[in-house]
Amino acid sequence: MEKLTLNNGVEMPLLGLGTFQMTDLAECEAAVSAAFDIGYRLIDTASAYGNEAAVGQAIAQSGLPREELFITSKLWIQDASYQRASAAFEKSLDNLGLDYLDLYLIHQPYNDVFGAWRALEELYAAGKIRAIGVSNFYPSRMVDFFMNTETKPVINQIELHPFFQQQQQREIAANFGFTIQSWAPLAEGKNCFFINPLLFEIGEKYQKTPAQIALRWQIQSGIPVIPKSVKRAHLQENFEIFDFQLTKAELMKINQLNQKHSLFNEKTNPQVARNMNSWKIS
Ligand SMILES: NC(=O)c1ccc[n+]([C@@H]2O[C@H](COP(=O)([O-])OP(=O)(O)OC[C@H]3O[C@@H](n4cnc5c(N)ncnc54)[C@H](OP(=O)(O)O)[C@@H]3O)[C@@H](O)[C@H]2O)c1
Repeated sequence: MEKLTLNNGVEMPLLGLGTFQMTDLAECEAAVSAAFDIGYRLIDTASAYGNEAAVGQAIAQSGLPREELFITSKLWIQDASYQRASAAFEKSLDNLGLDYLDLYLIHQPYNDVFGAWRALEELYAAGKIRAIGVSNFYPSRMVDFFMNTETKPVINQIELHPFFQQQQQREIAANFGFTIQSWAPLAEGKNCFFINPLLFEIGEKYQKTPAQIALRWQIQSGIPVIPKSVKRAHLQENFEIFDFQLTKAELMKINQLNQKHSLFNEKTNPQVARNMNSWKIS
C-alpha cells in the first residue's frame, strides 16, 4: 500500500476504508474483515457512527500486527471541550479494544474546539494518539485554527470528489503544510456518479470503472481517500487503483467536472448546524 507522510512525520496509507452509515454491526465487522483480507490497512470510523466496537472486533480477529494498521476515529460535537474530550477519546479506545489511535479528529467545527484541541495535544504528547487533526473545518476556520494552535493539525478531512474539488481548501493546505483527506470520494453515488460519461470514457482506456478513475484522480492530485463499501467486489475494485496512471490531460478534463458546491451539508447553514448540534451520541 502506497503511503504519504503527514506533517508530523507519521506515515498514512493513501487509501483506506470508510465506515460511515455501516449501522448494521455484523455487516460492518464483515466489511472491515474483508477489507483487511484484500489488503486495506487504514480504517476510518467515528464515535458518531456507532460502529467502533464492530471495527474493533474485526481488528481483533484479523491477527494483523497493530503497527501495520492505521486506525482513525473522531470526537463528536457534544464532547468537543477540554473537560470532555479525554473521556470521549478513552471511550473510543475502549470500544475499539486498542491502546492507542493512529489519528484522532475533531469531527465538526462546532463547540469549544480550541479547548478540545488542548486535550488532544495532551493525549498526543502522552503517546496515546500518533497524529491529531480536524474535519469539516471550512477555510477561514481552518486558517484561524492552524495559526492559533501549538501542535498543528495534520489533516482536515472534508467532502471532496470530482463534483466538489475544494480548490481553496487545497491551496490553504499546501500553504500551511497539512493534508486534505477526502470524505465521500465517490460522492456517495450522487449526480449519477457511477455512470458519469467522462469518468466512464477515461475508464475504458484503462479497463477501469468510473469509481476507480475518480479515486485515481484524487490520489494523483495528492488527496488520500477513504471510500466506503460493504460489498467485497466494490472493496476489491476500489483497492485496484495503483496499477495505472492518468495523463495530465485526463486529470485536467476531470478537473472540469467541478460544480464548486457541496452535495451534502454546508456547515455554515444555520439549519445544518442546529441539526448537527442536536445529534447526541450515547
Ligand atoms: N468527517 C466527516 O464528516 C465524514 C462525512 C462523511 C463521510 N466520512 C468518511 O468518509 C467515508 C467515505 O464517504 P461516504 O461513505 O460518505 O461516501 P462514498 O465513499 O463516496 O460512497 C459510498 C457509497 O458508494 C458505494 N460504492 C462504494 N464503492 C463502489 C463502487 N466501486 N461501485 C459502486 N458503488 C460503490 C457504496 O455502496 P456499497 O456499500 O453498497 O458498496 C456507498 O453507497 C465514510 O464512510 C466515512 O468514513 C466522513
